[in-house]
This record gives sequence, C-alpha cells and structure tokens, in this order.
Amino acid sequence: MLKDKKIIIGVTGSIAAYKSAELVRLFKKSGAQVRVIQTESSLDFVSPLTLSTLSGTRVLSSMIDVESGEWNNHVDLAIWADFLVIAPLTANTMAKMVKGECDNLLLAIYLSAKCPVYFAPAMDLDMYKHQSTINNISKLREFGNRLIPSKFGELASGLVGEGRMAEPSEIIDQIISDLSKDLPLSSKRVLITAGPTYEAIDPVRFIGNRSSGKMGVALAIECANHGANVELILGPSSLSVNHSNIKVNRVENTNEMYHLCLEKFDDVDIAFFAAAVSDYKPKHFVSEKIKKQKDSISIEFVKNIDILYEMSLKKKEHQIMVGFALETFNEIENAKEKLKNKNLDLIVLNSLNDNGAGFDYATNKVSIIDKQNNIFKFDLKDKTMVANDIVNKLIEII
Ligand code: CTP
Repeated sequence: MLKDKKIIIGVTGSIAAYKSAELVRLFKKSGAQVRVIQTESSLDFVSPLTLSTLSGTRVLSSMIDVESGEWNNHVDLAIWADFLVIAPLTANTMAKMVKGECDNLLLAIYLSAKCPVYFAPAMDLDMYKHQSTINNISKLREFGNRLIPSKFGELASGLVGEGRMAEPSEIIDQIISDLSKDLPLSSKRVLITAGPTYEAIDPVRFIGNRSSGKMGVALAIECANHGANVELILGPSSLSVNHSNIKVNRVENTNEMYHLCLEKFDDVDIAFFAAAVSDYKPKHFVSEKIKKQKDSISIEFVKNIDILYEMSLKKKEHQIMVGFALETFNEIENAKEKLKNKNLDLIVLNSLNDNGAGFDYATNKVSIIDKQNNIFKFDLKDKTMVANDIVNKLIEII
C-alpha cells in the first residue's frame, strides 16, 4: 500500500531520533520514496549519513544547501510529498507548528504542506502531561494533522510513563490503516483459500498437486491493498505472506482447510476459493511407513469434502462467493455448470490448454463469468495483474 508513495520524514531533536533510522528503513522496504528533513538539534542525536544511506537521498537540514549554496525549495518538497511524517516530534517543534513559526526547513515544509501530516510526539512524561503540550496536540489535531500517540514505557530520563515515541512499525501500521479506509474494500472481510492440499498416505507420503498458491496469495495481497481484512487459508506452499491486513492460516489437508472455513465463513463478506483442493484422499492412513516389500500396491481413495460446495449450499447468506475452475476441455460450459451448481457470484476459469497459464506459472490467462453468464476474457498476464482484474470485477458487483 505504501509502494511508490512519496514520504517526507521530519526528524527533530529527541533521543527517540534513533528510531527514525528504522522508520526510514521500513518505509523504503514497503516501496515508498523517502526524503528526510532534520532539524539542527536532531543532528546531535542521529547522523544524516545514516539517514541518507537508508533513504537513498541526501538529508536536508537547512534552508540553504551548505554544499551547493542553493536554496532548498520547501514549497516543491511539500508539493512532492504524499505524506509528511514528523517522528519524533519534540515539544519545542510542536509548539512552533501550533504558532506557525518558521525558523527552519522542516517548519517551512510543514506550513506549505497540503498532504496529510502525521506527528509522533516524543518527550518526557511530565512534558507530555503539561497542559501546554495537551493544548498543542489538540490544536494540531484541529488543523487536521494526525496524531500517532505516544506510548507508555521506559523513558530516557529513567522515568516510566507516557511520552515514549510509538515504534516505527506502529507508525507505519497507523498510516496503512488510514490509507485503507478510503479504499473500495475497506471494512470488508475476505476469506481466501489458496494452494494445494496434501492428503497423507503414511507418515512420509502424501497425495497432492502442483499448485503453488501464487494465484490465491496474489488475490489476498490485492484484496488487502484495496483495504480488505483478509483471512488467507493457505495449503502447503513455499510462499510467505507479510501484510498487515492479511492473517495467514496454514493448513496441510482438506479437512483442516474445511474446518477453518467453517469457523470463519459466517464473519466474512466475500469468499474466494482459489485452492486446488485434492478431490480424493486415501481411505486409510497407514500409521507406519509403508515398506517396499510388495511388487505393487494399491491405495483406495475416497472423495474429499467439497469445501466450496459446503459453504455455498449450506452456509451462504450475504457472502459474495467467487470460485475457480481449472478445465482441460469444454471449458466455458464446465465453468458455467460449476457457477450454477456451486451457487457462485463469479467464477474464474483458467484453462490448462493456454500456454503460461495454470499451476506453478507466474502468469495466468483467465475468463471471468458472472451470474448472468456474461463472459469477460483477459490476456495472459502476471498473476498479480490477474488478481487485479478479478478484484476489479468483484468491486463492480458489490
Ligand atoms: N473446491 C473446493 N473443495 C473441493 C474441490 C474444489 O473448495 N474439494 C473449489 C475450488 O477451490 C474451486 C472450485 O471448487 O474454486 C472448483 O474446483 P475444481 O477442482 O475446478 O472443480 P471440482 O468441483 O473439483 O470438479 P472437477 O475436479 O470434477 O472439475
């Protein structure tokens, strides 16, 4: 969600300035572009070399650039930014922001900024509790600036109480959560099944399939980036997912996936069934490893529970349901049949006949069919882009 966002981090003279290095690193890791502005007094607490190395750009700290002798254009910088995050914010700079004082570059940018401004106060607990600080914080909030509240904890003075700057990860979480509120799936809860399922034959062997989980994970990230809170139920997959809006529930077999779906289904608004569930499982699990004594063996398989069918026919109320169909022949007809039989709102069809589509590819080529049997065909694309097409189609029908 922070990818390509332009962020100015303002650092003022508090001991908590050391945390700004981590803040810059986390923003950069999220794909944001970062510029750092330091006040004169913050230079005693954190080196501009550290922050410029982490941000990949030169740190600015005065109106006139010392090296070039040029003027640092605060208006251009303010216009460039999507967000201004002042962390840590001292009582001194806070008071100046309230009064509209402008004796350094950071304050000039603050006064020129039209973008959202976040401020994370950091000070000793008595300063934090002082009536003037309380007034200043509420004044800044009246201006529309967004408070990232200080936390309770050990302070540099040795005292314990409020005033400690929020952790960098908490600052980022708050900004992401604000960004989500304006998005089309904000406040929506989404369930996604993804990946293969493995059905154990004996303690070391299983029957499964080649699904990588890429399509389901891409969908989870796409939904989360559109503001949804996602419950991802992921079968055995080597993929790792790290997104503040996605809760990953790892499962091994169909039965575990089914029970988690049962548990979560009532609370969700939208459900995607992207998992390549094993249709069959061994009738008996052999508790000891099967030895290779016989020339041939046979294993009896029994049908697995159809998770999507169970949810859709027995539990569906308000939920929008999206299923997938992987077909090798008579694709459109088979997919329409599944759409109807499984009581779906949309079905995403991918054919194994298309080059570059299907299991374990980074790309996929899909058609989406809606309840009215309209068919929307898409080109071969990266699975992240396919996920974007699917989520856009879903947004059209909710
Ligand atoms: N599905 C499921 N549980 C199963 C089988 C399938 O939840 N035991 C879901 C899949 O996640 C997919 C949809 O049902 O969204 C269709 O899956 P697919 O394997 O294409 O169809 P099946 O119903 O299994 O039919 P067939 O394998 O005979 O084509």
